[in-house]
Amino acid sequence: MQFWCLYMLIFWFLRENDAVINSRLWYTEKADPAYVAAGDKIEFATTSMARCAAVSSAATGADLVCYDGVTCVIITAADLNGIRGRVSNWKCFLAGSRCRYPFYEYPEFGCLNFVTNNLVNFTTARTSCPIGSHLYSPETLAEAVAMSDYLFNKRYAKPLDNLCGAAAPTLPDGQPQPCYPFAFDLYCCNATGMCGNKTADCNCPTCVNYNKIAKRFYVGFEMINNTWTFDSGVTVSKAKASVPWSTVDPKNVTTCALMNLVPLSNASWYQYAEVNCSLAGAYICEWD
Ligand SMILES: *[C@@H]1O[C@H](CO)[C@@H](O)[C@H](O)[C@H]1NC(C)=O
Ligand SMILES: *[C@@H]1O[C@H](CO)[C@@H](O)[C@H](O)[C@H]1NC(C)=O
Ligand SMILES: *[C@@H]1O[C@H](CO)[C@@H](O)[C@H](O)[C@H]1NC(C)=O
Ligand SMILES: *[C@@H]1O[C@H](CO)[C@@H](O)[C@H](O)[C@H]1NC(C)=O
Ligand SMILES: *[C@@H]1O[C@H](CO)[C@@H](O)[C@H](O)[C@H]1NC(C)=O
Ligand SMILES: *[C@@H]1O[C@H](CO)[C@@H](O)[C@H](O)[C@H]1NC(C)=O
Ligand SMILES: *[C@@H]1O[C@H](CO)[C@@H](O)[C@H](O)[C@H]1NC(C)=O
Repeated sequence: MQFWCLYMLIFWFLRENDAVINSRLWYTEKADPAYVAAGDKIEFATTSMARCAAVSSAATGADLVCYDGVTCVIITAADLNGIRGRVSNWKCFLAGSRCRYPFYEYPEFGCLNFVTNNLVNFTTARTSCPIGSHLYSPETLAEAVAMSDYLFNKRYAKPLDNLCGAAAPTLPDGQPQPCYPFAFDLYCCNATGMCGNKTADCNCPTCVNYNKIAKRFYVGFEMINNTWTFDSGVTVSKAKASVPWSTVDPKNVTTCALMNLVPLSNASWYQYAEVNCSLAGAYICEWD
């Protein structure tokens, strides 16, 4: 119980002092500062985890910081091999990317992996996320709407000068720049990295047809016991066109739903649409 409290307190300090710690991301790491040579660490007494983190942000090569409530140890060793992974009574935090490949940090949503090259039905999507991850599930209805907005306005925004794939800079999430997945637009990325909708743009071996793969995404959302429920526990109204449904859903016929680009019924959102559970879709996985 005491350790749990200390743990929560440290997290509270880290969260409350985001500005102080230079907006670095920290994740817990097993480590024992006893294994660090004296010249490779800065050690001082403090009862403030925030101070410990702030001093480490200012020090170079200090990606690992350990704290036991009375002492702060900032590890400045360039090589953390042999230091990380050791069980101790210290609470240690490692700075850097929290998400591990192929997951990327989406600040509003967590560590996500958009699986767009494996089109499967809902049942299969449920069990297809890599080990250590699960189908993405928004924590609030506002987050569900924010994800729709993100997909439409950022992830699948109209590419600059119609450049895509290798010809364009990768997106912040590490994915290649896609083409606009509208049915009537230049939705295929062709072999030279230009968006087009001619047969030659869509059918070559390296061509990607975004009209086929990026229009609909399964997430952890299904009708359970006659109630539409996200895996996070958030329930959704069954009234037609209520948030986050498209204007024509739900129909109360199937138990599956996905985020679908519905440009004709709503010109700006990826909305939730009730679908036949057999329909093939892409899906979004979230690191546990
Ligand atoms: C191809 O894209 C152009 C430009 O957006 C559009 O006018 C045309 O209708 C599209 N053709 C097809 C077959 O989608
Ligand atoms: C890709 O599209 C651009 C623009 O339409 C075109 O100039 C180029 O020849 C296309 N590349 C291939 C390999 O078809
Ligand atoms: C559905 O409701 C029944 C009866 O209330 C309950 O026993 C069952 O556990 C529920 N199933 C789920 C998946 O929540
Ligand atoms: C779905 O069911 C709810 C009540 O459970 C009802 O209010 C709504 O109108 C139904 N939608 C359709 C399209 O039938
Ligand atoms: C699209 O849906 C969103 C959210 O439901 C709504 O705020 C917006 O006004 C709609 N846009 C149009 C053009 O209907
Ligand atoms: C879903 O699609 C399958 C295959 O096309 C069909 O057999 C089934 O009846 C459909 N289910 C519903 C609820 O529409
Ligand atoms: C989903 O796909 C799997 C594997 O292809 C298949 O066995 C299963 O019957 C499908 N389920 C539905 C609901 O279509």
